[in-house]
Amino acid sequence: MVSQLTDAYARRFYYLRLSITDVCNFRCTYCLPDGYRPNGLANKSFLTCDEIRRVASAFAALGTEKVRLTGGEPTLRRDFTDIVRTVADNDAIRQVAVTTNGYRMARDVRAWREAGLTHINVSVDSLDARQFHAITGEDKFTQVMAGIDAAFEAGFERVKVNTVLMRDVNHHQLDTFLAWIKPRPVQLRFIELMETGDGGSLFRKHHISGATVRDALLERGWTQQLRGRSDGPAQVFTHPDYAGQIGLIMPYEKDFCASCNRLRVSSLGNLHLCLFGDGGITLRDLLASDDSQAELQARIARALAHKKQAHFLHEGNTGITQNLSWIGG
Ligand code: GTP
Ligand code: 5AD
Ligand code: SF4
Repeated sequence: MVSQLTDAYARRFYYLRLSITDVCNFRCTYCLPDGYRPNGLANKSFLTCDEIRRVASAFAALGTEKVRLTGGEPTLRRDFTDIVRTVADNDAIRQVAVTTNGYRMARDVRAWREAGLTHINVSVDSLDARQFHAITGEDKFTQVMAGIDAAFEAGFERVKVNTVLMRDVNHHQLDTFLAWIKPRPVQLRFIELMETGDGGSLFRKHHISGATVRDALLERGWTQQLRGRSDGPAQVFTHPDYAGQIGLIMPYEKDFCASCNRLRVSSLGNLHLCLFGDGGITLRDLLASDDSQAELQARIARALAHKKQAHFLHEGNTGITQNLSWIGG
């Protein structure tokens, strides 16, 4: 089905990032260095499984084919497997994905797979257990690695790993990462550190352009793949001797937003047109019953007219985004 979600710049949106909680149990230096704090949400509850079903139905009716569950840490929800099943039960949604810190993977990934999960992205910022602990605040490197193995055993053919690229932290470890993906069908994506409202000083200290990785890969005989029209913003590199791939997510490149293919709904039911946008458009008043579907679809479609051409991160904009756990990255 052709997506009915089109903006003023002729971008089509087939992909919904749906945050189901703001809560996280890790304390990544670039995201929640002081740990999760309720952010004034104390008395507000996150979307229920029924509300999530209605969000998914409305987006599916508008042409959405892929839903990624995000957080906070989405797998901390006790009903996470039910949520996966609920979204996967919608026949129009062909991909049900999760972005996770990997904490629950070793234990639960098989159940998620059986419930209909099709894709997993997991964060691993270092392959050194001590450094992993220092970055995330949790001594869970072995557990997360076991989770990745468990995902392959459960039948996932490829797993994506997100690594936030940080100067003097991991930017010089490219060869260690490459050795790790040589035998593994992992697409390891280096994500440029993004400046958030909370993260200004860390950004100034550790931001480094992904172009340095691109140059190093080309020197080592890696080839950049051509991008399909519906591909997301990662630039993908391959090498014949490696089972894995490298992806580069470079939000500070001028044309990064030209290939934007995603919309976001927060865990409180607000539609966000950009990761670094405004306060969001509420959908929640239309999520209490199935009877509001037509109105819900109309509100989502109308909102698209307001999507800006770019996030203008390269001009210093951080919008109102204090950290990425608020809005699901
Ligand atoms: P695929 O669906 O597998 O292509 O993954 P994805 O890159 O869409 O999802 P993932 O949750 O793994 O995203 C990785 C990270 O990329 C996010 O957490 C953000 O840090 C960054 N990212 C994702 N989408 C956007 C976006 O629209 N704008 C910016 N600036 N960064 C984004
Ligand atoms: N810059 C870049 N990536 C970030 N993430 C969270 N905060 C930032 C930031 N400031 C990414 C993490 C994780 C995903 C959920 O969000 O790498 O993979
Ligand atoms: Fe939690 Fe992910 Fe933020 Fe790390 S990046 S603190 S795992 S939400």
